Amino acid sequence: MRLLIHKNHEEASLWAANYIAGRMNAYTRTAEKPFVLGLPTGSSPLLIYRELIRQVQEGRLTFADVHTFNMDEYIGLSADHPQSYRYYMKENLFNHVDIDHANVHLLDGMAKDPQEECRLYEEAITRLGGIDLFLGGMGSDGHIAFNEPGSSLTSRTRIKTLTEETRNANARFFGGDPANVPATALTVGVGTVMDAREVLIIVTGRNKARALHAVVEEGVNHKWTLSCLQMHPRAIIVCDEDAVDELKVGTVRYFKDIEQDHI
Ligand code: GLP
Repeated sequence: MRLLIHKNHEEASLWAANYIAGRMNAYTRTAEKPFVLGLPTGSSPLLIYRELIRQVQEGRLTFADVHTFNMDEYIGLSADHPQSYRYYMKENLFNHVDIDHANVHLLDGMAKDPQEECRLYEEAITRLGGIDLFLGGMGSDGHIAFNEPGSSLTSRTRIKTLTEETRNANARFFGGDPANVPATALTVGVGTVMDAREVLIIVTGRNKARALHAVVEEGVNHKWTLSCLQMHPRAIIVCDEDAVDELKVGTVRYFKDIEQDHI
């Protein structure tokens, strides 16, 4: 696992956007062999999306022959609900880049048969050859997507019940009341993320420091599901100085030191 420590959220986001754009540009894409990108929502990736949009508008990047799979979706929110992740993705990325909307894959939180919806999602990922790069954020309890503490580290796309901590954290998008946050969601599994050829996670802010310590310095553990990255052959966490507040001085020094010479 690589851990890149930037001064602040802005610099970490710019680095991540350039990394993603670099991977997309380097990949020889066709309709039959598209680049497959996994995507998150939340506040963490917003500046990354803004930078990707800028690069598309400047003609330096294209989403032609790119397929995207989003990580998760609340159960019970319609596509036009402003807090649905489908709505978020349109507003913050898809409406502003040259992606073929048929190539956008999102879980349907209103699906009549949610289990079948999850099965078909996994099938679609497999049919497209798997995810090349999965971008993600991290919840303050160390979760990836909506894989709350206790999730199986081999889990696949399925229904999950959200914890109180997650509903409290996301209440800010629902008028400040955790009771307004849906209690359940559809989410890719830890195993789904682990199958991606590469995983890039952005973690910024002091409120993520406790979880980042567990993920980086403790063992692989289902209580902090992002710790699964320790088992991934190509994983990067890009973070800011605030997020590393709870790491040992020696750990921070080590990662800064090896990144100096990274090629
Ligand atoms: C939710 C999402 C995660 C996201 C997390 C952190 O729980 N399901 O994918 O990483 O929130 O959100 P934020 O980036 O707003 O801190």
